[in-house]
Amino acid sequence: MKDHLTKSPELESLIANVLSRRTFLQSAGLVGAGTFLAGMPIKQAFSAAPSTLFDFQSIPASTSDTVIVPKNYRAEVLISWGDPLFPNAPPFDPSGKGNAASQALQFGDNNDGMSCFPLSADRALMVVNNEYTNQKYLFDHDGSSLTADDVAKSQAAHGISIFEIIRKDSAWALDQNGKLNRRITANTLMHMTGPAAGHRLLKTQADPTGTQILGTFNNCSNGKTPWGTYLTCEENVNFNFGSIAPHQQSAEQKRYDIKGDKSYYQWEQHDPRFDIVKNPNEPNRFGWIVEIDPMNPDSIPQKRSALGRFKHENAAITVNKDGHVVVYMGDDQKGEHIYRFVSKNKFDENKPQQNRDLLEEGTLYVARFNGEFDALRGRGEWLELTHGKNGLTTEAGFADQAEVLIYARKAASIVGATKMDRPEWIAVHPDQSTVYCTLTNNSDRGSADQPVNGPNPRQDNSYGQIVRWHPLLGDHTNNEFEWDLYLLAGNPSVYHDARAGTSNVTPDNMFNSPDGIGFDAAGRLWILTDGKDSNKGKFAGMGNNQMLCSDPNTGEIRRFMTGPIGCEITGLCFSEDNKTLFVGIQHPGEDKAPSHFPAGGNSKPRSSIMMIHRENEKSFAE
Ligand code: FEO
Ligand code: CA
Ligand code: CA
Repeated sequence: MKDHLTKSPELESLIANVLSRRTFLQSAGLVGAGTFLAGMPIKQAFSAAPSTLFDFQSIPASTSDTVIVPKNYRAEVLISWGDPLFPNAPPFDPSGKGNAASQALQFGDNNDGMSCFPLSADRALMVVNNEYTNQKYLFDHDGSSLTADDVAKSQAAHGISIFEIIRKDSAWALDQNGKLNRRITANTLMHMTGPAAGHRLLKTQADPTGTQILGTFNNCSNGKTPWGTYLTCEENVNFNFGSIAPHQQSAEQKRYDIKGDKSYYQWEQHDPRFDIVKNPNEPNRFGWIVEIDPMNPDSIPQKRSALGRFKHENAAITVNKDGHVVVYMGDDQKGEHIYRFVSKNKFDENKPQQNRDLLEEGTLYVARFNGEFDALRGRGEWLELTHGKNGLTTEAGFADQAEVLIYARKAASIVGATKMDRPEWIAVHPDQSTVYCTLTNNSDRGSADQPVNGPNPRQDNSYGQIVRWHPLLGDHTNNEFEWDLYLLAGNPSVYHDARAGTSNVTPDNMFNSPDGIGFDAAGRLWILTDGKDSNKGKFAGMGNNQMLCSDPNTGEIRRFMTGPIGCEITGLCFSEDNKTLFVGIQHPGEDKAPSHFPAGGNSKPRSSIMMIHRENEKSFAE
């Protein structure tokens, strides 16, 4: 078992101190909060009373090739990669010989973030990201060398799948005849909007306007707006670009990890749009949040440049009490940041058409956490990313606001943002008091470039943590907040130091790499993992990736679901009546094979969406 942790004895004892339940309660702001919390009560305080939110016991870790949920719950497959979405679509072909045209009519690969929009009591619209492809399963060869049609198939497997579902008895089923069924792929026309639209850095030979962009890809997680649209978040888009000729990387390309040479997806081999030597501005047109109106299958998706360009994980939206729309966003790369967008105009439920433009204009901020090691809590502030302010000047390399947004990471560094342990999903508690963010892991934490800091307190962080913050005075537009760590994941069976995690992490619920999170209407926090599933060494006893359920009032965590071999659990939403929890099984059999999920036997593994129901069809809002 390797031991990379070399933190200072002081930090070791400070973290150990925080690990005791009592000190952890204190750290959450209940007692003796100290000077920096004085006079600012935190609503979201832990209580010593047992949780009333659970009606199940924590299930054991699993290494089996199935989905397991507690008794009194049942899990069924809704849809899997390759299922036909239209009456004229060919059936899934497990041989991998299906072509690009087939894939463009089928459910895309590797489902991630998703939302469910009600159409009637027993009909709904699912909007689902298809993040990326597993080349070894997508084709009838190992994917190491692609033909032009292979590239087109890979592009068609990315993007978004939109499909109607109908309820029969208590479960839902795809309706191939749904009028709103639609595929959006890496080649669907979209418009750039906001301050960067038409900027010289977005212009290409094929699009001299800098506004007409083809496609979206590496769509990680998502957001659902109060005005009925869907936000899809472009994450690891750097892997979709390469070059045939040798390429000297610019500083901006380096910061966004965009490289020449043969890329993983090899799109540049047959589609010059993805060759950064031939089309150096094309990568600037990706890494955005895209707004989609799923109720109109002819609508053109809108890229919202005001929300900045980085590796977007998800978009957690809340309407502030004064009507401004606030969007919290993580940038998932080691040492990158957490952002906040505040709309210029206000949400008005009586003006649905006007709300459609709320993400066009506003102010982008990035978070600085002012940490205190002795408490694993502190104050923080939102730093404005506006041209001409906070050093974001022409002299600093930003000609205008569009460049601040296109190179948001560089702007964030200049203003002094905190380097985080890979920010993944963010979720706002239903009472709006508190915002939670998963920091999944960071093997570089503790390096000279990324020293430990308040919310990122462990070197060589293998397990991850969840940080949360409370905007001062409950105002999400306030530039100050208080933060604390809701949990540090860890392995209390193997370690008895900071790597054991906080006291709400036990041998019965332990996990690593929290990634997806979301609240149900009753206020339970659901935690989805994308971690190491070796079940050995420092991960011994954790088993396959899993979904946990936590009560933010007590801090208690129970393991609710375990996934099949080699998968990650990602994507979470509820039906309008809260009777169905939809959750995604992504990339079964990826690094850890074999998996034959979901069909079993000797079948090819397929990413799938599960639907989970409680006994007697009890609502998840109860
Ligand atoms: Fe697509 Fe950061 O996960
Ligand atoms: Ca993720
Ligand atoms: Ca992840």
